[in-house]
Amino acid sequence: MTKILAFAGSSRKQSFNKKLVAIAAQGAAKAGAKVTLIDLADYPAPIFNQDLENEQGIPDKAREFKRLLIEHDGFLIASPEYNSAFSPLLKNMIDWASRKESDDEPPLLAFKGKMAAIMATSPGGLGGLRGLMFLRLLLSNIGVTVLAEQMAIPSAVTAFAADGSLADQQQQQSVHSLGHQLVEAIVRL
Ligand code: FNR
Repeated sequence: MTKILAFAGSSRKQSFNKKLVAIAAQGAAKAGAKVTLIDLADYPAPIFNQDLENEQGIPDKAREFKRLLIEHDGFLIASPEYNSAFSPLLKNMIDWASRKESDDEPPLLAFKGKMAAIMATSPGGLGGLRGLMFLRLLLSNIGVTVLAEQMAIPSAVTAFAADGSLADQQQQQSVHSLGHQLVEAIVRL
């Protein structure tokens, strides 16, 4: 069974991106995948520092996150846009997870050969679209195949209904479908 890890690049309690990735996760589950939806707030890790890594290795929570990436075939990622780029939280977790824990561990074990679908939402008019360009580039550079299809939902403050779904049915369907498309792409592979 295809295994999908879904998470947002925000640890904020009321994060719009958490809501967004949960919709895509429903789509992936509907397509038959086993989906693990996590909250990065549960994986607190210090900002990457090579001295810290040399002294203590990968912090426990960052290692747990890395293990989850290794165990899953594909990722659904929704990231906030901060000053035109994806979030520092997401970058930090990727940086930790990109590190080898032993000499015989293959490079980029958590990422190489995996597939991802990326999305964003923000209160602004572009919905975090600019941050996705950086995220796509980074993931591609570490061996993740990123689906051409992506979603950026603007006006996040009014876009979500009280139950966490998108008020606009077409948007809701498109985000749902993104999860579906990721599973289909992995199965085809
Ligand atoms: C933002 N925000 C923002 N939004 C946007 O569309 N483009 C941007 O460049 C920025 N820049 C930015 C910088 C910083 C430091 C902050 C704190 C915020 C607004 C951002 O999209 C908004 O806070 C979202 O609600 C964050 O995502 P979550 O936490 O709701 O998922």
